[in-house]
Order: sequence, then structure tokens, then C-alpha cells
Amino acid sequence: MDRAIVVDHLVRDFVVTEKESGLKGTFSSIFSPKKKAVHALKSISFSIQPGELVGFIGPNGAGKTTTMKSLSGLLYPTAGFVQVLGFDPWDRKNEFLKQIAFVMGQKSQLWWDLPAIDTFELNKAIYEIPDRQYEETLNELTDLLDAKKYLNIQVRRLSLGQRMRVELIAALLHKPKILFLDEPTIGLDVVAQARMRDFIYDYNRKYEATILLTSHDMDDLVNLARRVIVINEGKIIFDGLLDELTNRFAKEKIIKATLSDEKNIADIEKIGKVKKLAFPEVILTVPRSAVALAASELLQNFPVEDLTIEEESIEDIIRRVFKGEGVKTKLF
Ligand SMILES: Nc1ncnc2c1ncn2[C@@H]1O[C@H](COP(=O)(O)OP(=O)(O)OP(=O)(O)O)[C@@H](O)[C@H]1O
Ligand SMILES: [Mg+2]
Repeated sequence: MDRAIVVDHLVRDFVVTEKESGLKGTFSSIFSPKKKAVHALKSISFSIQPGELVGFIGPNGAGKTTTMKSLSGLLYPTAGFVQVLGFDPWDRKNEFLKQIAFVMGQKSQLWWDLPAIDTFELNKAIYEIPDRQYEETLNELTDLLDAKKYLNIQVRRLSLGQRMRVELIAALLHKPKILFLDEPTIGLDVVAQARMRDFIYDYNRKYEATILLTSHDMDDLVNLARRVIVINEGKIIFDGLLDELTNRFAKEKIIKATLSDEKNIADIEKIGKVKKLAFPEVILTVPRSAVALAASELLQNFPVEDLTIEEESIEDIIRRVFKGEGVKTKLF
């Protein structure tokens, strides 16, 4: 099979009932409800090769979760075509379900009042995992996530980071080939986040699993995904290498300087956009094409002790892409 995931002109609308404010609104919404269509996915297309790890990013409400639900067969498309490992996800065939996992950082699939190991046993039965394989995979995942001490504790007593580790074991016991990870690092502290990232990286390598990952954390993307798909208001506005995205959208460079004298310091704004001016430190942003000129003007006209030139942060770049500049500059 050449492509693990194929999405072709996928459309998904939701019909929502609008309620006017106040009691009157409540009555009229009961007796004559006003329906409104939400166009969550407006004909999106992309495909993913087996073994790829792709970052799927976009602002709140862009359509990421809706796409993942459509790919795992939880939502039926309004129009368009979706195929995952050659299956129509909507059929939810056992053979299909045995090869995928859908992990949502904000939703638990574990029983809260029982220790995680009980949910694992249930999943073993559901996915018909043979005893030997179950033991092996459980040990392997437990080691990878360093989670042995949490398996026998009632889930509700675990911290978020501890729970996410057992959550992943539950989702991956059947060794799925395709992972839909919807904000798996949300709410985790930096240590837990790094552990989760390492795990995703290793799982992708070790099992040649295909992974579609959403995250609002740019560090996740920088560390994990070479390719990113950017979605905004139900449309894909970029699909390509993360490097290419940042190169194309990084318009400015940041000049940081330390001065030895405050004289004429206000004139510095003639050189670039002042981000910070707190003697002895000055931070300016300048267009990429003007950086050499700006740096030399600074050196010639001001008592510079130290000077560095940096790239814009990836957060700033992505924020600009989300604002829709990607659409205007025609990325395809
Ligand atoms: N079950 C539903 N009923 C009605 N509207 C829905 C439903 N699910 C999603 N939507 C709407 O579809 C759009 C896309 O939602 P979706 O959850 O896919 O966004 P998202 O990209 O995952 O956002 P976030 O980053 O906040 O998780 C939103 O406008 C949302 O309100
Ligand atoms: Mg979402």
C-alpha cells in the first residue's frame, strides 16, 4: 500500500441550533429552533505515507479534531473521500480498529475507579490480543514510559502526567499502525512533555507507525514533525516541511545589542522597530533583507559592546500563518 491515509475533498458540516438570549429565546428555540450550519471542514485534501509523523496544526476551532474523528470513523463525512490503510473508517471494521488508536489529551478512555491494569485487560479482550503478545507489549510500553508503579493505582488518584502515561499504554496495547494523537501533551509539565515526546518519537521509529499529531505547543512540532499540515477555518493553508514554512514566513530578524552609553539612544528607532529599549539592552526587529545594513548602522552610530542577530521565534511565525497570511501568499 502506498499511502496510509488519503483524504480527498473532505467536507464536514454540523447543524447547530441557535438560541436567542433570555427566556423568550429559550422558548422560541424550543418551538421554532433556528438552525445554522457550521462548515467545520471545507473540502480538505492530503495524504500521508506509511511511517510518516505529521504535525497537524491550526488555531482553536480550525477543524483538527473533526478531521481526526473522521479518520478514525467517529464522524461520517458530509462529502468527500477518506481512506485509512485501505479501509473506509466509517465501517469501523474490526480489522481497521485493530490497527488504529485515537488518543485525546483531554479525554480519558480509562475507568476512573479502577486501576489502569483493569482497563488494559478489557482492551486485551476487545482487541483479541493473544496472551503472549499482551504480556510482551505491556512490558515494553511500561518500560518505555516508566509507568510500572502506576498500573495498580486507581486512575482517579493519578496526576495528569502519570495518567497520560497509562492512557497511552491502554491506547497502544494492540500495537496500532496508525496513531491519531490529539494534543497528547496538553497540561503536562515540561519534564512529562519531554518524556511524551521521546515516546512518540520512539514509537514512530520502532514500529514504523504513521502518526498524525496535533499540538498547540510549538516545541512538540519542532522536535517531532518534519512535515506539517496547517488548517485554518476548515481549509488547509499549508502542507509541507516545517523548515519550509518557517523560511517562507520568517520576514524579520531580531537584533539584540548591548550599549556602553545612553547618548542619543532614542535615535535607535531610525534603524528598526524597537521591541525593547532598556539601557544597556536594545532589541530591534528589521526586515530580513535589511539586516546587514541595520547591523552596520548600529555599529557605526552607537557605542555597541555586543551584538547578536537571531531568527524570529517559531511561535511568532506560526501566529502569522494562522492569521491567514498563508492564503494570501499562495503556498501551493
Ligand atoms: N459536534 C459538533 N457539533 C457542532 N459543531 C461542532 C461539533 N464538533 C465541532 N464543531 C465545530 O466545528 C469546528 C471545528 O471544531 P474542531 O473541534 O475540529 O476544532 P479544533 O481544530 O480541534 O480546535 P481546538 O484547537 O480548539 O481543539 C468548530 O467551529 C466547532 O465549533
Ligand atoms: Mg481539537
